[in-house]
Amino acid sequence: MNQFEEQAEIVRQEQLTPEIFRLSLKAPEIASQARPGQFVMVQTASCYDPLLRRPLSIHQTIGNELVQLLYKVVGKGTRMLAALTPGQRLKLTGPLGHGFDFSDQQALCLVGGGMGIAPLYFLAKEILRTANPPKCVVLLGARTAAEFGPLPRDFMDIGVTQTHLATDDGSLGHQGFVAELLLQHLAPGNQWSVCTCGPHPMMKAVVKACRQQEWQCQVSLETMMACGISACLGCAIPRADLSGPYLHVCKDGPVFNANEVAWL
Ligand SMILES: Cc1cc2nc3c(=O)[nH]c(=O)nc-3n(C[C@H](O)[C@H](O)[C@H](O)COP(=O)(O)OP(=O)(O)OC[C@H]3O[C@@H](n4cnc5c(N)ncnc54)[C@H](O)[C@@H]3O)c2cc1C
Ligand code: FES
Repeated sequence: MNQFEEQAEIVRQEQLTPEIFRLSLKAPEIASQARPGQFVMVQTASCYDPLLRRPLSIHQTIGNELVQLLYKVVGKGTRMLAALTPGQRLKLTGPLGHGFDFSDQQALCLVGGGMGIAPLYFLAKEILRTANPPKCVVLLGARTAAEFGPLPRDFMDIGVTQTHLATDDGSLGHQGFVAELLLQHLAPGNQWSVCTCGPHPMMKAVVKACRQQEWQCQVSLETMMACGISACLGCAIPRADLSGPYLHVCKDGPVFNANEVAWL
């Protein structure tokens, strides 16, 4: 798998909500190789603080030139990222990890919660670009309507005909958890293949529903990452049967078959 380090020029920085930003970077080597579900390690500061790069999913590529990232400001690194402006450059390593496998599927359902929506947009775009696109249903969850920003509309704009929403407070769509939408909107007889990314409890609920219906399920996991390239062993997670050796999210994932990993 090809990986590159690029000095990427910022082309656009958009603020979508008070906390969520979308960054477009000129990174042709990464853009031309990236697959949905892969991520980049981003140097957020030109100084040594923070020292470690931050992992961010690839939200989409545009042509063979641009890599777009969707990120939420949660701490020092992402705050520094949000302060950058067009014309500035930052180092990116990628594309990293294994992405989603969406080949040979009849019906796909993408389930995203919070910032887990970021890689699913790239996945939906690539699914719809295939010669005979499979049925594609998108289920998105957030705490409130405002947290979605323009994302539900973005999915519709690329041709996703079925996008269903859930919010914790009921301000948009179904009031409750996004996992509850699976059984509301997916015909039980169909052989669905579900791809999910989001908070751990949400994905655990999605995996449970898929097991009950005997649907395939791929999960994109997030752990803290120091290196992103399988050198520090900091992103270890247990296998489903708790046998060794541990899996590493940066190298073996971030996308796994849900049955490969332990749901503790
Ligand atoms: C493979 C992968 C893909 C990711 N993709 C995205 C994405 O597309 N968009 C996005 O907004 N975020 C994504 N994340 C999470 C993102 O890496 C963290 O939010 C970021 O590193 C925080 O950096 P910071 O310096 O701002 O915060 P820090 O100061 O390092 O931490 C601030 C707070 O965020 C929490 N935090 C830090 N790292 C993570 C993490 N990896 N997972 C969960 N909580 C964390 C900390 O526990 C702390 O509470 C991804 C993480 C991984 C592992
Ligand atoms: S982040 Fe270092 S080994 Fe995975």
